[in-house]
Amino acid sequence: LTVVVDFGAQYNQLIARRIRESRVYCEIWPPTTPVEQYRARNVRAIVLSGGPASVYAESAPRIDPAVFELGIPVLGICYGMQLMAYELGGDVRRAERGEYGKAMLSVEVPDSPLLRGLDPVTQVWMSHGDSVISPPPGFQVLARTDATPTAVIGDPARRLYGVQFHPEVVHTVQGKQVLENFLFRVCGLRGDWTVDSVIDSAVAAVRRQVGETGRALVALSGGVDSSVAAVLVHRAIGDRLTAIFVDHGLLRAGEAEQVTRTFRDHFHIPLVHVDAADRFLARLRGVTDPEEKRRIVGREFIRVFEEEARRLGEVGFLVQGTIYPDVVESGASGGGAVIKTHHNVGGIPEDLGLELVEPLRLLFKDEVREVGRALGLPDELVGRHPFPGPGLAIRVLGEVTPERLAILRQADAIFLEEIRRAGLYDRIWQAFAVLPDVRSVGVMGDGRTYAYPIVLRAVTSEDGMTADFFRFPYEVLERIMSRIVGEVPHVNRVVYDITTKPPGTIEWE
Ligand code: XMP
Repeated sequence: LTVVVDFGAQYNQLIARRIRESRVYCEIWPPTTPVEQYRARNVRAIVLSGGPASVYAESAPRIDPAVFELGIPVLGICYGMQLMAYELGGDVRRAERGEYGKAMLSVEVPDSPLLRGLDPVTQVWMSHGDSVISPPPGFQVLARTDATPTAVIGDPARRLYGVQFHPEVVHTVQGKQVLENFLFRVCGLRGDWTVDSVIDSAVAAVRRQVGETGRALVALSGGVDSSVAAVLVHRAIGDRLTAIFVDHGLLRAGEAEQVTRTFRDHFHIPLVHVDAADRFLARLRGVTDPEEKRRIVGREFIRVFEEEARRLGEVGFLVQGTIYPDVVESGASGGGAVIKTHHNVGGIPEDLGLELVEPLRLLFKDEVREVGRALGLPDELVGRHPFPGPGLAIRVLGEVTPERLAILRQADAIFLEEIRRAGLYDRIWQAFAVLPDVRSVGVMGDGRTYAYPIVLRAVTSEDGMTADFFRFPYEVLERIMSRIVGEVPHVNRVVYDITTKPPGTIEWE
């Protein structure tokens, strides 16, 4: 086990992802984790992340210095390096000049195991105000930049290393090499963590938790996480898993059919398909406020799910597709108990008294996709764009009616079909159509029209927090426009939304 100790850097999840990309399993732990846990969990490598604090600040997060005496190799990054230097008797101070952005690193000790294979001068990414002025006893300087003479330090005997730059970001050109040198050369790890081993241990863990006779429920949404979680748990406990698919009538064209086909026909998972479209539409009648629509869909979802769950009788467990970023963001990275309610299912009621099973708790999104593929889920599903829980209710602006849903659904299907045909689907984070609540004048044939516009939205993004509009070739936009106005009744105009986030959001409501 490799541990990334989280001192609050914005990059800490990135460090963990890079390590896993090198096929080394790692977890993110808070600095307060007791030293015994490092021994108990047989930790083989420790990476101390960066963080916004200064080691001298009252509130600076610290780590028990006994960690440095466990004999486990440590790599300190930025703040992590400064903290290690400080704790071991080095001198850390506010630097004369801080260093922010790209810098050139000159390697002074090229045969150090940490720096093996690096170019003599290589570009790194810096972001620090404090510096290690003199390294602790036993440490030597391994590399420098103009502004920072102690850019890399190390004590090879104790296998303690520090880098002032950020090896985890892409601007550090040979960052991956540095991390892999640490993991493979310094720590002697092998990088043999595979998707199959992830699946095996997740399946075993689910069997342990649910036992020989326990029964579980899963709410399928058609999204990647709940789908992969369902298939994984089904592999562990077979037909003691029941999937409930609440079709709220706000899905895209063909989606409900795809869910039933995939899970019932292909994976043979017992599936309850609840067609609740009428119920949801009745509740949404006359409602125009976006947040009110969200609340209604969320609440109704829970009601329907609860009814179905009660109908099934004795069930002890609820499967959720919670993934690692959710766990880390909720502050539970030390294996604690805080669990963020799963955004996408709107929070399944606690009073059902079900114990949560979260087989994807330790996986990043791209790992979830890999597991999904290995379990035989179709690419189409595994590579899907995110889709909001309230579905098309927040893409039909204003009142949601069956007629307007049908217009949007048809336009949206054309948009996605043409994106796929142009081979662009995987380059886009999310693409969808929006139906506004206005009409405009047009001319078709010899007649005047007065009909709806369709707004097309397609964005690129890393995590949905910020986004840029996707640069379509004009020919593709033209084809989409002519198909939508030609094929979808009540639509006479197509516009493309070029707003970034911020200031726009991805969705229109
Ligand atoms: P915004 O519109 O806030 O969207 O830029 C960011 C991401 O979140 C999704 N989203 C939602 N997902 N329930 C969800 O499950 C919601 O109410 C909701 N609102 C937005 C959105 O699709 C995008 O991926």
